[in-house]
Amino acid sequence: MKIINIAIDGPAAAGKSTISRRVAGRLNYMYIDTGAMYRSVTLYALNHGTEQMFDNLNRIDIRFKNEDSGNQRVLLNNEDVTEAIRSKEVTANVSKVASYEAVRTYLVNMQQQLADEKGIVMDGRDVGTTVLPDAELKIFMQASPKVRAERRLIEERERGNQVDLETLTKQIMERDEFDMSREISPLVQAEDAFLLDTSEMTIEEVESCIIKLALEKVEGE
Ligand code: DC
Repeated sequence: MKIINIAIDGPAAAGKSTISRRVAGRLNYMYIDTGAMYRSVTLYALNHGTEQMFDNLNRIDIRFKNEDSGNQRVLLNNEDVTEAIRSKEVTANVSKVASYEAVRTYLVNMQQQLADEKGIVMDGRDVGTTVLPDAELKIFMQASPKVRAERRLIEERERGNQVDLETLTKQIMERDEFDMSREISPLVQAEDAFLLDTSEMTIEEVESCIIKLALEKVEGE
């Protein structure tokens, strides 16, 4: 069986990470959450200042550690930041940090090295267009802003964060707008990506749809 790379891109809170993790688990592939990498650099900038972040960029080490439970921990310079990178402050600042050219160059390089060996499911905004333009399967995952905000609301409440739907919808739409209009590698559907609108689909349905497409690539051609 052929081993492939799968790129999953799309706007904020479209369900990319949940699905990517599940698809990677099913295929026994490695999952790489590029958003977590931009969030880690943002956390570094918030803790040390933007200037220090630029000065030390090449020394910012980001690693993923897989646990037996199937969960993944994120390590920033050896410190576990899995929860910290999901804070409100990081979410509010990440689009800005992700728009800096030096940050993108550094992280795209790191992402390409991580995907050196095939068998990767990578999710983000520019994976199919910039990071892995040769990925055998590219998915652009979409969902209406309302559905995305509702899904995020459940996640935030599970984390114990009190947020309301209106604020979340506004934040998600602002982040999309920023990510789509930035100069370098904006959020855009790759020409050869399969558009998947998940607004009316369950997680299981999205997962089986992507697995089916992946198996066609693995077994076919
Ligand atoms: O997927 P996420 O919400 O954790 O991503 C956080 C931010 O990081 C997102 O608003 C834009 C940025 N990002 C990016 O610019 N390129 C990627 N490949 C992944 C994320």
